[in-house]
Amino acid sequence: MVDRRRRSVRTALVAEALRVALAGRAQGDPGLDIVDLGGGTGGFAVPLAVEGHRVTVVDPSPDALASLERRASDEGVSALIRGVQGDAAELPGLAGESSADAVLCHGVLEVVDDPVQALQAMASVLREGGVLSLLVAQRNAVVLARALAGHLAEARVALQDPDGRWGATDPMPRRYDEASITAQLADAGFTVHTVHGVRTFADLVPSAFVDAEPGAAESLAELERAASQHPAFRALATQLHILATR
Ligand SMILES: C[S@@+](CC[C@H](N)C(=O)[O-])C[C@H]1O[C@@H](n2cnc3c(N)ncnc32)[C@H](O)[C@@H]1O
Repeated sequence: MVDRRRRSVRTALVAEALRVALAGRAQGDPGLDIVDLGGGTGGFAVPLAVEGHRVTVVDPSPDALASLERRASDEGVSALIRGVQGDAAELPGLAGESSADAVLCHGVLEVVDDPVQALQAMASVLREGGVLSLLVAQRNAVVLARALAGHLAEARVALQDPDGRWGATDPMPRRYDEASITAQLADAGFTVHTVHGVRTFADLVPSAFVDAEPGAAESLAELERAASQHPAFRALATQLHILATR
């Protein structure tokens, strides 16, 4: 229960913004074709299927796809979910060109071998006017986090490294700034509509406080919402959520 509450603080804003964008695209049609690249165990895909959308999850992990299948079955939406084992580079062949009203890419562009090629692949899978929901790790947050943890030299490295990494053992291959990711999206032919900061405070506030204090999770969610579009605080968020169209 506590875990679920903390998770929902982290994902609620993304899910809400996505729902609004999909409603704009759907124009009354309840079932859109959605591709979730690196959709993993279906944290976003399964709720979208519950809302009536047809979702194809492309992910290289067989374990994640097995969990996705179980989750879809538990929710009674197996007929609306298709799990396909594969990599971002193979996306057009696996999902089909111009086959999707929306593509989700949440927490994946940071880890693929070739992010420029992955963005081009997502653009090719989208129909004209289709929506891209992109969630990427932001450099500034890791600079702050390393400094607050006392790793000051690593904070400086992350600040200056072209990929926003804090050192050779940083498990994250790359992080983005708002300017760098919006420029890459423009190069791939996308028009950016909204940029929100996600997890501005959720990763900084001690979990003991959020779990123990009555009403704290709700207050945190409200604070996150207020900060998500504030230019200074958005720049400190752990992730950036971008909605763009092709
Ligand atoms: C951080 S998880 C995010 C899962 C899901 N998108 C979410 O937001 O809950 C990253 C996912 O990307 C997948 N992944 C890793 N490399 C990939 C690649 N080259 N192409 C597509 N997906 C990849 C992983 O298997 C994993 O499921």
